[in-house]
Amino acid sequence: MHGMKAPLVQAILDYVNENTARFHMPGHKGGKQVSPSCFNLGWPYDLTEIPGTDNLHAPTGAIKEAQELAARAFRSDACFFLVNGTTSGVHMMLLAAARPGDTVIIPRNCHKSVWDALVLSGARPVYVWPGYDEERALATQVAPEAVRQAVAENPGASAMMVVNPSYYGLAPRLEEICGILDEYGIVSLVDEAHGTHFVFHPSLPKSAADCRADLWAQSAHKTIPALTQASYLHARRGKVDLNRLQRIHSMLTTTSPSYLLMASLDWARAYMEEKGRAEIDRLLTIIADVKKQLRQLGIDTMDDYARPEVEGMDGTRLVLDLGELGLTGIEGEAILRKRGVQVEMSDMRRVVCICTVADTKEDFDRLIGACRALWEHRKQAMDKGIKLSISREIPRQEMSPKEAFYRKTEYIPLEASPGRICAGIVGAYPPGIPAFCPGELIGKGGITELLEIKVMGGRLFGVMDGLIPVIEE
Ligand SMILES: Cc1ncc(COP(=O)(O)O)c(C=O)c1O
Repeated sequence: MHGMKAPLVQAILDYVNENTARFHMPGHKGGKQVSPSCFNLGWPYDLTEIPGTDNLHAPTGAIKEAQELAARAFRSDACFFLVNGTTSGVHMMLLAAARPGDTVIIPRNCHKSVWDALVLSGARPVYVWPGYDEERALATQVAPEAVRQAVAENPGASAMMVVNPSYYGLAPRLEEICGILDEYGIVSLVDEAHGTHFVFHPSLPKSAADCRADLWAQSAHKTIPALTQASYLHARRGKVDLNRLQRIHSMLTTTSPSYLLMASLDWARAYMEEKGRAEIDRLLTIIADVKKQLRQLGIDTMDDYARPEVEGMDGTRLVLDLGELGLTGIEGEAILRKRGVQVEMSDMRRVVCICTVADTKEDFDRLIGACRALWEHRKQAMDKGIKLSISREIPRQEMSPKEAFYRKTEYIPLEASPGRICAGIVGAYPPGIPAFCPGELIGKGGITELLEIKVMGGRLFGVMDGLIPVIEE
């Protein structure tokens, strides 16, 4: 542990070192009979609530201390460990901030967990449009001006969700947005799934903590060294009842939370506190050099990307725009994979790489080597990649997502759906902004646009085999 303070990790190590006969859950009893060839899992460390390891549902010991240390490191007033990702954090935030029938302001392009959270809470969404860059076919961020208009039109709204940053690393003008919401007493909820590392380096975009957000959730497993599913939920004292939040956290959390996941949250925080700044420095230096080399291969890394609604970019997120090579991101991803590099995701123009303090210079050398193959596969046409204009019409809401959820659903051909009420989240990549959300009236214009994007090579989401979910009549 080299002097690092990670109390939950310590409690687990202490117990394992005692070599106790385990007559308690989990049934694998430290993985004794598990063949070593079955992965090098941390079986001995997979524990349950026994004396010394505390209880996530009523923490008084190691977990309490670990959560307090996380709150301090991430500059929140309270931190709750999550073992079902930021997905559960989004559910908890909306349940804590809105009651049935309340209005919540939602960016049209937020993560799908938000609609499930609307079903759980019974709140009614009012949508705001993110910025949209037609040249790059890229949804950006919600502008403070759009937030001001939305709150002026809905002054009684309970909460607003903001995403910091987007999957592509674009950060919103979060401080201004939280300030506007504060003026109206509206609870700011920040989906910081991709921004857990922000607090550890001054040249990264500002964290929700430093923008005075009320609640925010972070997928530690995405950008700091924590296990998959491990996330943090943070709260600032003030608008949100923290006792109620704890009750909601308990309600949406298994009574058997994984100690491996929780310990990884404790560990990742301790590691980042001690080494994060220096390691992110190292990472940013490598990435700066990588970007130069990629530029020489005709790959645009959106380095100086500037839009009025974008505060800045996460320098650790490597976005490779393959437009100049005449390749789609999807083609690029397949080419890179054949050269031993798997990226996080791809779209019609880009591939996105999540880079963290765990990446080495050798990993980046392999990435650059693989990117040479992209150059070799470039298309003669050298078109600058897909451009896309889209309609910004928000369909009429006939019922709330919760009401839609409890209605019977049927699946009908997309072409036959105008006039029906949508029962799912339906749209296309690009732009990744839903055309229709649950409870909305399906219009002919929106369907025509989806079909046109599909013809251009876009991918539809929420549609299976050409069928769209609608409310039964
Ligand atoms: C913007 C955003 N929010 C929330 C989530 C959900 O996070 P998790 O996978 O930790 O549940 C994701 C996951 O990709 C995401 O991209």
